Amino acid sequence: MGRLSGKTAFVTGAGGGIGRAIAFSLAREGATVAAADINDQLLSETAELAGDLAITAVKCDVANRTEVFSKIDGFARQAGGLDILVNNAVMFHYAPLVDFDPQIASRMLDIGLKGTYWCFQAATPHLKARGRGSIINLSSIAVSMSIPNASVYTSIKGGIDALTRQQAAELGPLGIRVNALAPGSVPTPGANSVITAEGWKSRAQKSVLRYLPSAEEIGDAAVFLASDEAASITGVTLKIDAGMTITGP
Ligand SMILES: NC(=O)c1ccc[n+]([C@@H]2O[C@H](COP(=O)([O-])OP(=O)(O)OC[C@H]3O[C@@H](n4cnc5c(N)ncnc54)[C@H](O)[C@@H]3O)[C@@H](O)[C@H]2O)c1
Repeated sequence: MGRLSGKTAFVTGAGGGIGRAIAFSLAREGATVAAADINDQLLSETAELAGDLAITAVKCDVANRTEVFSKIDGFARQAGGLDILVNNAVMFHYAPLVDFDPQIASRMLDIGLKGTYWCFQAATPHLKARGRGSIINLSSIAVSMSIPNASVYTSIKGGIDALTRQQAAELGPLGIRVNALAPGSVPTPGANSVITAEGWKSRAQKSVLRYLPSAEEIGDAAVFLASDEAASITGVTLKIDAGMTITGP
């Protein structure tokens, strides 16, 4: 018996990077998982790599509220309910805020922040029907740091931290827990598009454990927060950064 046997989970942005690792970790612990993503090619790869794991690839743009409701309702119907929602989808783009492309900024907000609202709205009735549930939002340690050209990204993640506490207060009385994971720098396709080789090196050196967390380690933490082991934990943001944020001068 896995720690999540009999549970079902909808994970967004699960075509690659941290989202795929979370989907695989939840499924290895026995959950039936919808790996949702906007990218067809990544979804095919995920389905192929999943092998015997109970993972269904679902095409879903989290910025499209109608589509989010249709895909979450459809998965819950087919899987016999919903226990876990992981809001992970993101669009990375770093540039100075002073002349940041407004269309890119809007798309980032539509995916990273509003997409989280829509998934929450669509998933809540299903979690409520179970009388329990766990929602995990992806934040970032970038919220409490100053990172060059990352104003739009970090402000979205700051919003996720605040939202997590609000959602936890709103759903706590219904037995539904809401927490956030704040990874340190994790090598993924998205992070590689904004962090240079030099940047990765200095991040590993600044971490007290002298390494960078892997996507699989973020998956392990998601399993913990989704499981009954975290029954008393709600409204928190859990850092998984190999100690990068506690280094002094
Ligand atoms: N990698 C890091 O260093 C790091 C650090 C801190 C926090 N995080 C957070 O972890 C999460 C995952 O990051 P990652 O590095 O794996 O990102 P990534 O860019 O590698 O993967 C993001 C996935 O989201 C999908 N996606 C993009 N737009 C979408 C949409 N509209 N609808 C559905 N799916 C969409 C992409 O296709 C992709 O598969 C993000 O929320 C990110 O902010 C990452």
